Amino acid sequence: MCGIVGYIGNKEAWPVLVKGLERLEYRGYDSAGVAILHGGNFSVYKKKGRVAELSKFVKNENKENIFGGVGIAHTRWATHGEPSDRNAHPHLSSGGDIVIVHNGIIENYLSIKKILTEKGYKFISDTDTEVLANLIEDIKKNARVNIDEAVRLALKQVVGAYAIIVLSKDDPNTMVIAKVGSPVVIGMGRGEFFVASDATPIVEYTKKVVYLEDREMAIIKNKKLTIKTIDNKIKNPYFQKLQMKIDELEKGGFPHFMLKEIFDQPRSIEDSMRGRINIKNAVVKLGGIENYLDKLVNAKRILIIACGTSWHAGLEAKYFFEEFSLIPVGVEYASEFRYRNPVIYKDDIVIVISQSGETADTLAALQLAKEKGATVLGICNVVGASIPRATDAGIYTHAGPEIGVASTKAFTAQITALLLLCLCLAKEKNILNKKRMKELLTELEKIPKKVKEVLKVDEVVKKIAKEFKNAKNFIFLGRGYGFPLALEGALKLKEISYIHAEGFAMGEMKHGSIALVDENMPVVFIATKGPLYEKVVSNMMEVKARKGKIIAILSKGDKNIKKIADYVIEIPETSDVMMPFIASIPLQLLAYYVALFRGCDIDKPRNLAKSVTVE
Ligand code: M6R
Repeated sequence: MCGIVGYIGNKEAWPVLVKGLERLEYRGYDSAGVAILHGGNFSVYKKKGRVAELSKFVKNENKENIFGGVGIAHTRWATHGEPSDRNAHPHLSSGGDIVIVHNGIIENYLSIKKILTEKGYKFISDTDTEVLANLIEDIKKNARVNIDEAVRLALKQVVGAYAIIVLSKDDPNTMVIAKVGSPVVIGMGRGEFFVASDATPIVEYTKKVVYLEDREMAIIKNKKLTIKTIDNKIKNPYFQKLQMKIDELEKGGFPHFMLKEIFDQPRSIEDSMRGRINIKNAVVKLGGIENYLDKLVNAKRILIIACGTSWHAGLEAKYFFEEFSLIPVGVEYASEFRYRNPVIYKDDIVIVISQSGETADTLAALQLAKEKGATVLGICNVVGASIPRATDAGIYTHAGPEIGVASTKAFTAQITALLLLCLCLAKEKNILNKKRMKELLTELEKIPKKVKEVLKVDEVVKKIAKEFKNAKNFIFLGRGYGFPLALEGALKLKEISYIHAEGFAMGEMKHGSIALVDENMPVVFIATKGPLYEKVVSNMMEVKARKGKIIAILSKGDKNIKKIADYVIEIPETSDVMMPFIASIPLQLLAYYVALFRGCDIDKPRNLAKSVTVE
């Protein structure tokens, strides 16, 4: 988590940095800070809270020292030390020579701090980052080396994950950047450089970027960029062209990114399948994994690894793969998988799923699976992120930037990519005949239109949300393809409205959880037509008998369920396998409106960040 930005060039750095921070606020918003090299010294401004607080503070009383063409900035998701002005980045070294911003965790900071304290260094904050600033200063002073060498030597002592930007006031024309585990990208303009945790703060200035790899550092000195490893080996920079568009980063008239992203789904799902299906020939073409199809066909097992919403997409995929490609699938939480000793066979296919492509646990699990010899495929949204770069091959979801912390369009794009992968495999294995394949692809092609239609439930869901805005708890129930959706519906509601919610496999209720149901308990049923419909109706009756308040998501025109449920959300009919694409929409809207009526900060819910780059 945390976002870092840096600028060195002929522009005023302050506006570039502050705008960059606003773009990166999704990564954390506990505090914000900027350091500018002004008149030979660092002017450091930092404030607990959002970037807007910092801007207000500077605008009202402190603008005199914000001018200069070199600066760094940070938006924080607190790890070491509570959110406060004191713990906010950038951090200065004791002697004031070094200033640093950092995303990540320095694990051995306490032992380094002890040594530095004995040498007389004073610490103002509780952070691991200030320790690194002082370590760099100490090395620079005692080894009499320049700033880039001091950073390099300091990093040789450091254990942990980081993306850092470092400046020294003694060397005003140099900026040093380095990374292990946390992302950082450098944009190259004309005689100027932009640095950031992702490309969003850079895209409006230049499209020419280079992503640093782990254990690499970049030195920008006198307008020249050099890349080397922390072990001092020079590397050639690999420049890429950004594909991102600026309007994708704006709210476009919507009050929140989350609502914009919910309504973007007809487009994003279509883009996820664009150019990948050919109904006439009953073929799915996935260029990214073409060379791995043989391995997929021969695999005895698929393991899917992810976190949060991406994990729920993985669970949907288990149902897809088992139904259509007859292959056993395990779905693993990355945070558990990486710390076990999982049994992995060389012919296993591991699929990692991540919207951001930067989730620390997923990245570590991917590396473990690779070490154990598995082939690792990725399903990722952010092009060029760490996860797609580390996998053997993969499929981009092409949902476009997702900025709201609550994942919405990323989920439907992930299940689109996963269903395509599954159908592609089924075709290769000759499990589906041409006719059935055509039927499935035809139905899939209709999904964007049906999603457009289901978005019309907006007003209905809004009314229901108003009724339940003060609920203390919520239960979400689903069976089959509806079970991962029940988990996802509950996650969405709790993360943005702070109402306690749980999702269950409907059939499990009677094994304990039904004891929670009384007249105050809203119970959301995913109750669309499908092979388990009769069972769903029975479960609904059981909840009704215990006076639970039933909110049913049902297939349009289903009179039967309408009679039982207290509140209904009708959605267009589709096949059971395609149902998650449609039924996920009202769940997202329900969470959104409940949070809205409770006055929550929807795009930036408390304690969370969009990219979880710490373990
Ligand atoms: O970027 P990733 O897909 O790897 O992120 C995984 C989770 O952190 C993420 O899905 C999280 O659960 C969402 N905020 C939920 O809406």
